[in-house]
Amino acid sequence: MKLVNGFSLIEYAMKKRNVLPAFNTTNLEMTIAIARGLDRANLPGYIQVSSSNLKLSGPEVMVKIAEFATKGVDVPIAMHLDHGKSFDDVKTCLDAGFTSIMIDASGLPFEENVREVKRVVEYCHFYDVPVEAEIGALRGKEDTIENIIDEKTDPNVVRDFAELTGCDLLAVSVGNVHGLCIQPEIDLKLLEKIHKLSPVPLVLHGGSGIPADVIWAAKSFGLLKINYGADIRKAFIEQFGKAYELDHNAHNVFSLSFKAVESVSAKVCELAQMINRCTAEEF
Ligand code: G3H
Ligand code: ZN
Repeated sequence: MKLVNGFSLIEYAMKKRNVLPAFNTTNLEMTIAIARGLDRANLPGYIQVSSSNLKLSGPEVMVKIAEFATKGVDVPIAMHLDHGKSFDDVKTCLDAGFTSIMIDASGLPFEENVREVKRVVEYCHFYDVPVEAEIGALRGKEDTIENIIDEKTDPNVVRDFAELTGCDLLAVSVGNVHGLCIQPEIDLKLLEKIHKLSPVPLVLHGGSGIPADVIWAAKSFGLLKINYGADIRKAFIEQFGKAYELDHNAHNVFSLSFKAVESVSAKVCELAQMINRCTAEEF
């Protein structure tokens, strides 16, 4: 199946009442594993690449890999720029064929965040591509970036932000964290408040480590997309680590890559199915 447009994916998920998992990829193997895992789960979702990861393999290469990985797959998958850091990154990703975009200007003061997001939205909407934006800051570590400031999303600015920017999805900070070093503590009351004021669906970054029942509860408070990075990266790295621990001369990259694809794909399938169950009983 061809990579789908981000707007179509959002519409599809809202109609089917799905929560969309978005999995961070780094390379060929992770991308194949994500596509296979979603196919196994028979659920829609995103393959996403962060701006920092694009320094390793440019957007054109990642799109080609994603097109290859989704060829035999029957579920809708969009290709998303995660934590887009600049207008230039956004443009090169759109040109390369990304079908969904995040611009992360959340480190800037409110007015500048609005200005930057608005500019990206105007550009992306011209190409019929949706834009995710963020207000607030998450603690934790993502790729090479570490943040210690916990700045929860202020519900009072949510409506203005969404209306002024025209963004299509809003990533919020409600006790979610990046990476596995800090325990997430989701403030569902705050999420509910934000949901009541937000004209657009909500996104949770830092999906790894958030308990299932919290995600099921978040679903009734506007959650449409949830990002997973650390959980699947760990599943990938574990295979190589185990082989090295057993034998310091281990060097069969080919068979280890196969094992890594298998374990990431199983993790992707498990997470996609987990977030799309509604209650502990169903689980
Ligand atoms: O943008 C990527 C995600 O927020 C990844 O978070 O590594 O904690 O799952 P995570
Ligand atoms: Zn993130």
